[in-house]
Amino acid sequence: MNAIYERTSVRQFTNQTLTQEQVNAILKAGFCAPSARNLQPWYFVVIEKESLIRQLQEFSPYASPLQTATLAIVVCADLSINPSTDYCQQDCAAATQNMLVQAKESGIGSCWMGGYPNQDRIEKIKEVIDLPEHILPLWILAFGIPNQNPPVKDKWNEEKILRL
Ligand SMILES: Cc1cc2nc3c(=O)[nH]c(=O)nc-3n(C[C@H](O)[C@H](O)[C@H](O)COP(=O)(O)O)c2cc1C
Repeated sequence: MNAIYERTSVRQFTNQTLTQEQVNAILKAGFCAPSARNLQPWYFVVIEKESLIRQLQEFSPYASPLQTATLAIVVCADLSINPSTDYCQQDCAAATQNMLVQAKESGIGSCWMGGYPNQDRIEKIKEVIDLPEHILPLWILAFGIPNQNPPVKDKWNEEKILRL
């Protein structure tokens, strides 16, 4: 649970690459997520090739973490499994949060960079990665060994709780 409480977005990374065990632990956490009707409509594009990660920076004006990330995961929805992008998005968000928390648990920094529903960003991802029609890229996650130590934000807010 400490990883949940202590995770923060990390946007600058060292050039130290991750081990395959670390990458697979992140993916395993993603696969453990709940999904509507247990359809598991996610599809993860795992990118460790530096030139490809840097190219993906262009997908959004807010993608600076990809400048130093050593791993990028493009979280996609497989619309052939569930054609509802609304449900896919929720399922993939659950998988994403699991991956961010597992990364923290392993001493790896991460940042979620929004794509969907911004069509322009989705198209830009597709320009870099050749994907079949039924695979919809939703957003990109940057990972790496942290080169910064952002403070944990206290987000507790009693006003956002209705106790009945
Ligand atoms: C859907 C979503 C989209 C986000 N998009 C970006 C982004 O494009 N670029 C970025 O640097 N951070 C992005 N973030 C990270 C947020 O800025 C960050 O989670 C928020 O400021 C809270 O900080 P924390 O993650 O350290 O708790 C995104 C987070 C979410 C959940």
